[in-house]
Amino acid sequence: MKKPVIAIDGYSSTGKSSISKVIADKLGLIHLDTGALYRGVTWFALQNCIDENGSIDLQKLFSSLDQIELEFRNNDGELILYLNHIDISKQIRTNEVSDNVSIVAKQKEVRDFLLHSQRSLAEKGGIIMDGRDIGTVVLPNADYKFFLTASIDERTNRRYFELESLGIQAEREQVKKNLIVRDKIDSEREIAPLKQAEDAIVIDNTNLTKDGTIDLILSHIKNI
Ligand code: DC
Repeated sequence: MKKPVIAIDGYSSTGKSSISKVIADKLGLIHLDTGALYRGVTWFALQNCIDENGSIDLQKLFSSLDQIELEFRNNDGELILYLNHIDISKQIRTNEVSDNVSIVAKQKEVRDFLLHSQRSLAEKGGIIMDGRDIGTVVLPNADYKFFLTASIDERTNRRYFELESLGIQAEREQVKKNLIVRDKIDSEREIAPLKQAEDAIVIDNTNLTKDGTIDLILSHIKNI
């Protein structure tokens, strides 16, 4: 039996990554959280490509892309992101990264840089990838496409508790603002915007638990 290729797109903090991880475990698939890759590039830029005003120097980032090696390593079933052989899994969740990632992810140079590695990982099948443009651009021929959405207040709560569990302090209003700004930049950008693929199954999980969302997705996936 051929293992499926599954694309999960949607708004920030709809649970895409944690849900994809469980589905990957259940179906024996590889899980790729593509948002972590954009966060990894952003973390690199914040460390290495800052101009005299303290902002990210995009030109410097573009000319440094060949110095970025991002790699997921499996640690007891959990995929840990390494940047140039250093574990950056905690750093990529900080507010500093969240506040800058959409501007970095908007750039054609950055998207082209990450597109190739995302596609080549899916070539052999048996993968679930979550992000914003997986069903539309990265894997338009995916066997299954889902698009997750939820109300802004519910997403704010989820993100707030996620940060708390990581020991990262945050203000609820600030978390909400970051989500709104990020969704706007992600949806309105010129290249590969956050958009529901025409053939995607839309799931609003405002009133669904994580398990409820997982069951609903699994109910659509048949043996192929
Ligand atoms: O899923 P996340 O919140 O970790 O994603 C972080 C940012 O990365 C998000 O604001 C937009 C960008 N992103 C993207 O542009 N394309 C993807 N496939 C995944 C994420």
